Amino acid sequence: MGKVFVKSFGCQMNLSDAERVVGLLGEDGYGPTPEVAEADLLLVNTCAIRERSEDKLFSLLGEWRQLKREKPDMVIAVMGCVAQAMKDEIRRRNPAVDVVVGTHNFHELPELVAEVRRTRQPITRIGRLRDAIPDDMPTRREGGLHAWVPVIYGCSYFCTYCIVPYTRGPYQSREPDAIVREVEGLVAEGYREVTLLGQTVDRYGRELPEPTSLSALLRRLHAIEGLWRIRFLTSHPLDLDEDLVSTVAELPKVMEYFHVPIQAGCDRVLAEMKRGYTVAQYLEMVAMIRRIVPDATITGDLIVGFPGETDEDFEGTLALLDKVDFDLNNTAAYSPRPWTPAAKREDQVEDVIKAERLQRLNEKVTEGSHRNTRRQVGSVQEVLVEGPSSRNAAILTGRTRGNRVCYFPGGPEWVGRLVQVRITEARSFTLRGELLVPAPSLA
Ligand code: SAH
Ligand code: SF4
Ligand code: F3S
Repeated sequence: MGKVFVKSFGCQMNLSDAERVVGLLGEDGYGPTPEVAEADLLLVNTCAIRERSEDKLFSLLGEWRQLKREKPDMVIAVMGCVAQAMKDEIRRRNPAVDVVVGTHNFHELPELVAEVRRTRQPITRIGRLRDAIPDDMPTRREGGLHAWVPVIYGCSYFCTYCIVPYTRGPYQSREPDAIVREVEGLVAEGYREVTLLGQTVDRYGRELPEPTSLSALLRRLHAIEGLWRIRFLTSHPLDLDEDLVSTVAELPKVMEYFHVPIQAGCDRVLAEMKRGYTVAQYLEMVAMIRRIVPDATITGDLIVGFPGETDEDFEGTLALLDKVDFDLNNTAAYSPRPWTPAAKREDQVEDVIKAERLQRLNEKVTEGSHRNTRRQVGSVQEVLVEGPSSRNAAILTGRTRGNRVCYFPGGPEWVGRLVQVRITEARSFTLRGELLVPAPSLA
């Protein structure tokens, strides 16, 4: 039996693709290993969203090249967004790479690895972005209570800063029956929570031959007995409509959690990003969510230093954080990406200014997060208990409905259960609390 070591960079879609590839490799006799030194196959699933993610890839491949010198039979394979976009350049920069496979044909990886072992010749095989991604692939997950489930691949928005449409291609929703089958299978294996994935997950189903919607899918999944929690991400403000928000309000197993990035707090920058909405429209959407789901958790992503962003524009992004009570935001300094229109602009913001803005933004995001955790002190939260915390076996950890990590004292008998926790302490990003026993039955 061979051993495969997998490293995934980037988003949850990459984690999910990696789980599918490891599942397929299992059929070829490969088992996963957490030890690089034990592996016969080293596989990296790459991310191209920022230059830094590419840099990390090439430094990892540098390390692997050294390892291969000592173990020449080892096969090095590269999949994911950088593989799709950079193709032959990967091997030009690191000749130790044996297999390069794209985002739409990663299911061919086991076959390509076998071929390399036979011929000792490197292979690059990149599918077309319009190719259908096969369904019902065997999937090898880490185990546990929570599973990622892709529902819509690709993105057709072409925001001017973003490489994803060039690496993942246009929208491609999975058939609802295949998703329901997969989730039923997960529940049978003991999973209790799923997160439905897509770059704009709230657009799910619209382009299928028989059009459907995320709301309709949520209703079908909600009916699966033994499934306790459903989340979905990432939402796009243009696609998050009242129907979906009302469905979230109506279905108790669907967490009242919306990851719906605004990206910037200035109308001119939003227009130049081609996001398709203004700050006022975003605020209306937030008001709509709060009207229908008063205790909704809203999170997002923000970019600083988009080309042409002035100090005043940036102040708009800071001011936004006073207007929208975000639970949390992921933040990033703009990074010019190949093919994207924004990268060709001449009014790029200097790196030092980007770094300064990012630091100020991060401070404010952290403050906002802490304000939110503090507000929860004294409240009772439903937590799905994942296991003991990594530092102390007597402390359990799990997530609230709003996706906050929460720590509280308790024994192993609570793992895998839904419990009620009274929040006693707020850290910047996490909660501390005490288990309420007996907990009212939750599931
Ligand atoms: N589809 C999602 C986001 C996918 S990419 C959406 O539309 O919101 C995840 C995040 O990476 C984006 O939300 C954005 O904040 C960030 N990002 C994308 N391209 C970037 C770039 N060129 N530079 C810096 N951050 C970027
Ligand atoms: Fe990228 Fe925009 Fe698509 Fe999100 S919506 S993946 S930011 S192009
Ligand atoms: Fe990165 Fe590709 Fe995801 S660029 S963020 S791995 S879709």
